[in-house]
Amino acid sequence: MTSYRITLLALLMLIAGAAYMIIDRGQAAASDDRMAIELTAEERNIILTEMRGFLDSIQKIVQGLAANDMNAVAKAAERSGMAATHDIPGSLMRKLPMGFKELGGPTHKQFDGLAREATELGDVQITTEKLGVLMQNCVACHASYRLVVR
Ligand code: HEC
Repeated sequence: MTSYRITLLALLMLIAGAAYMIIDRGQAAASDDRMAIELTAEERNIILTEMRGFLDSIQKIVQGLAANDMNAVAKAAERSGMAATHDIPGSLMRKLPMGFKELGGPTHKQFDGLAREATELGDVQITTEKLGVLMQNCVACHASYRLVVR
């Protein structure tokens, strides 16, 4: 009798767990089918700070382009270049999926490229085009990933 009760209880828990997972997944898929990257609150903060840096750079780049101030463009782009990645701890890097890193790394490199070209060529048209290409990374990554704190 006791073992029968335990079996029944285990079975009920299994069903409840499965139902919860189906409902939970269903909701996630309905509202948001981006892949969730699980981080600590601190790690998420590091990434989001970097993101706000990206946005700040882009705002200043666009303003610089409009004013034909390629010095300002180069300075703003440099701030989001590879140098900006040096503060990211290895433990956080290891938690990021390959697809995320394959979009993130090139984004920083392209900011450095943008800075270089702005200085060397001083061509608003070319740098504007490059900015458009660079920003495809923002769009692609945002369509694929979200950060959750666990
Ligand atoms: C490698 C992936 C990746 C790339 C590339 C990327 N982002 Fe993000 N960004 C994210 C993720 C993931 C979030 C968090 C989304 C969420 O959890 O809903 C985010 C959030 C943000 C936020 C919100 C910050 C906050 O404080 O909440 C801004 C602004 C942002 N990104 C700007 C940019 C800009 C501008 C670019 C391009 C220059 C860019 N990002 C490129 C992945 C990326």
